[in-house]
Amino acid sequence: MSFKILKKEELVPTIYRMDIRAPRIARKAQPGQFVMLRINEKGERVPLTIADFDREKGTITIVFQAIGKTTMHLSSLDENDDIQDFIGPLGNPAHIPKDETVILVGGGVGVAPVFPQARTFAEAGNKVISIIGARSANLLIWEKRMREVSDELYITTDDGTKGHHGFVTDIVKNILESGTKVDRVVAIGPPVMMRAVAGVTRPFNVKTIVSLNSIMVDGTGMCGACRVLVGNETKFACVDGPEFDGHFVDFTLLMNRLAMYQPEEKIAVEKYKCERQGCLC
Ligand code: NAD
Ligand code: FES
Repeated sequence: MSFKILKKEELVPTIYRMDIRAPRIARKAQPGQFVMLRINEKGERVPLTIADFDREKGTITIVFQAIGKTTMHLSSLDENDDIQDFIGPLGNPAHIPKDETVILVGGGVGVAPVFPQARTFAEAGNKVISIIGARSANLLIWEKRMREVSDELYITTDDGTKGHHGFVTDIVKNILESGTKVDRVVAIGPPVMMRAVAGVTRPFNVKTIVSLNSIMVDGTGMCGACRVLVGNETKFACVDGPEFDGHFVDFTLLMNRLAMYQPEEKIAVEKYKCERQGCLC
């Protein structure tokens, strides 16, 4: 069985959206869960948080940045191409609160997995305050989609080319300091951002959920690759998460483990680029 790419779109430079035909996964997918894909028999397995699902069309939407060998290869595929393995939904669904005021924070590519949560939270009657950030205006994704499901939407860019000039954390802090009653914060993006969000919310004692993108191999709790430390307890992001209480996550360990294979990843990217150019070195 293979999984067809039904739609491909470059959202902003290097960030792609793909809709994959996977009816059985689409039937069961919930916000917060992830899929694992393998492009071909020799490919590595890559986890991606589900960015959207359509039960009627039988599709799963993934959004990824072409940054490593596999994501570059994936971005080179076209509509009607097949992906060999596409497994899911994996991990635990996000908790859907009721009648709460929730701040949803999406940073960079992390805006995509925040979207289905924002939509479901809104449908469940929560007040949704969304904050989406990017390094620059031309890297901001899914503003329109996020606006449609949010009661309030704030935009930040690191270089000030759109919205607030600064980090997403500035807005989180402003809202909390204004005295607005906030019941929960959900943050998805780079680990440094999620750590910073948890740091801002801690003094206000607001529950803060983060989605951990640790390195995964099997995605089913057997290999230990996705090991994280939460409240001094070892957890596996694939089966115990991927969402955890950000106030208890050891982000330093997470970041160290994410950087563990950087030299190998760099070599794999160089080799992939070389092969694509037909280089014989
Ligand atoms: P980025 O570097 O462009 O950062 C996005 C935003 O995060 C910035 O605009 C800023 O507002 C905020 N931010 C960054 N550093 C910060 C800091 N020190 N303090 C406060 N806020 C800060 O993000 P990117 O390059 O798109 O990286 C996306 C990352 O998100 C990747 O590492 C990817 O693995 C991760 N990701 C995680 C998930 C998940 O499910 N956990 C999903 C998608 C992407
Ligand atoms: Fe292997 Fe989580 S990916 S235990």
